Amino acid sequence: MQQKVKITLEPLGKILEVNRGTPLIDTLHEFGVEFPCGGKGTCGACKVKLLKGELAADAAQRKKLKKLKFGDEWRLACYCKAESDITLEISQFENIILADNSTFEIKPQIGYGIAIDLGTTTVVAQLIHLENGHVLNSVSAINPQAKFGGDLIARIQSCLDGKQEEQQKIIRTKIGEMIESVMEKYPVDVKRVAIVGNTVMHHIFTGLKVDSLSFYPFDSPDLGEQHFSAKELNWKLSADTEIKFFPSIGSFVGSDILAGIAATKMAEREEFSVLIDLGTNGEIVVGNRNKIVCASTAAGPAFEGANINQGMRATTGAISSVTIENDKLKSHIIGNAEAKGICGSGLIDVLAILLEQEKIGMFGEINSGDDKIEITPQVVLTQQDIREFQLAKAAIATGIQLLMNRLNINYSTVANVFIAGGFGNFLTVKNVIRTGLIECEEEKVFKLGNTALIGAKMFLFEENNFIRNILNKTSHINLEGDTSFQDIYIEKMMLV
Ligand code: FES
Repeated sequence: MQQKVKITLEPLGKILEVNRGTPLIDTLHEFGVEFPCGGKGTCGACKVKLLKGELAADAAQRKKLKKLKFGDEWRLACYCKAESDITLEISQFENIILADNSTFEIKPQIGYGIAIDLGTTTVVAQLIHLENGHVLNSVSAINPQAKFGGDLIARIQSCLDGKQEEQQKIIRTKIGEMIESVMEKYPVDVKRVAIVGNTVMHHIFTGLKVDSLSFYPFDSPDLGEQHFSAKELNWKLSADTEIKFFPSIGSFVGSDILAGIAATKMAEREEFSVLIDLGTNGEIVVGNRNKIVCASTAAGPAFEGANINQGMRATTGAISSVTIENDKLKSHIIGNAEAKGICGSGLIDVLAILLEQEKIGMFGEINSGDDKIEITPQVVLTQQDIREFQLAKAAIATGIQLLMNRLNINYSTVANVFIAGGFGNFLTVKNVIRTGLIECEEEKVFKLGNTALIGAKMFLFEENNFIRNILNKTSHINLEGDTSFQDIYIEKMMLV
């Protein structure tokens, strides 16, 4: 039995019990803490103040802390492991909203707001002080609709089978409970609630028909913003709380991506940017201040572990990264636990390494002739897993290519490639490039974590014209309708 230690998080007042030796990044990301430089120790955004207990900082971390001019009481969460009971203050929650290694200017307002990222797999709610942007509390939960199916197609099918009302009820109830939970210590008057999510989440929550999302061209006439009162949702908030589900852009590209566009500031930049969200559904956005095009891909939830033999989400027991040591694979397992499976970032790492070692070939074939490769004694990668990865990777890479073609640009004209998504914090960029998922220099790639949540927080402070301005320049493209789709897709299946 592994020894447990307690991490108390302030100002949330949350106590987490984790396996001794658990890296802080493994648990804090669940609460919406972002690790913008992915643990390189360059951004300092993950700094935590040690209020009680011992938290060792090795020489490398001390050097980084000194360079960032942080005092003795500070640590970089991305470098630390919980070896004994500790109390930490999360500095990021005391700062204004953060993405892209930078903070956003907020327009201070009186009162409080709640930002909700309603994901297909997870839901996150944060209570925000609108005067200063501080995060007062944060909770995350598994979307209880999971019992109706893991991906969007399964959820739609379940609606068509007469379960939409049930799905609507359980998600409204769940978010209501999460709101009560974030407000437990802060019985404040909430002025507004901003909800973002993909189009299917939007339709199920709001009670709009999902029928047209079930067949080509997978579009809906009802993509707009939806308003609610606390009373109709049965949420314990005052009658005048403004509750908004933000508008979708088109097809499956919802307000989570709209929030991502806001978080990356790509709609304000002169240079071109690419945003890739590797969530349950792979969405891609390409553009600049003049024009933005976006699409959802048929990548499916492979990067969240679905369809992979021993695939799982980035939670305790998942292999989140793999490196090579003395010619052997060395796995990092989330939560310092025994390996139960592999999540998207681990899968990308292991494939990049196996490609480098020529253990798998350009068509994805295992060169030894076996049908599986051992990653740890408990977890293997099968030939079918590699095929699933190739399909998902080709869907994303093809989407990027087709959207760039629409704008007559290529990777050389793109200044930033932003990667969003739950497991983004664990990704190794060089390996993402090695697998061909993206095809540019490492320096252009930025991992932003949960951009949907960052954008939802921004929406709490913004006027309607901010959103309208993004929507006016953004068009949704149906990739399957593009005549070159098939040829490019086959080419992108290769692991070169
Ligand atoms: S210093 Fe950037 S994530 Fe820790």
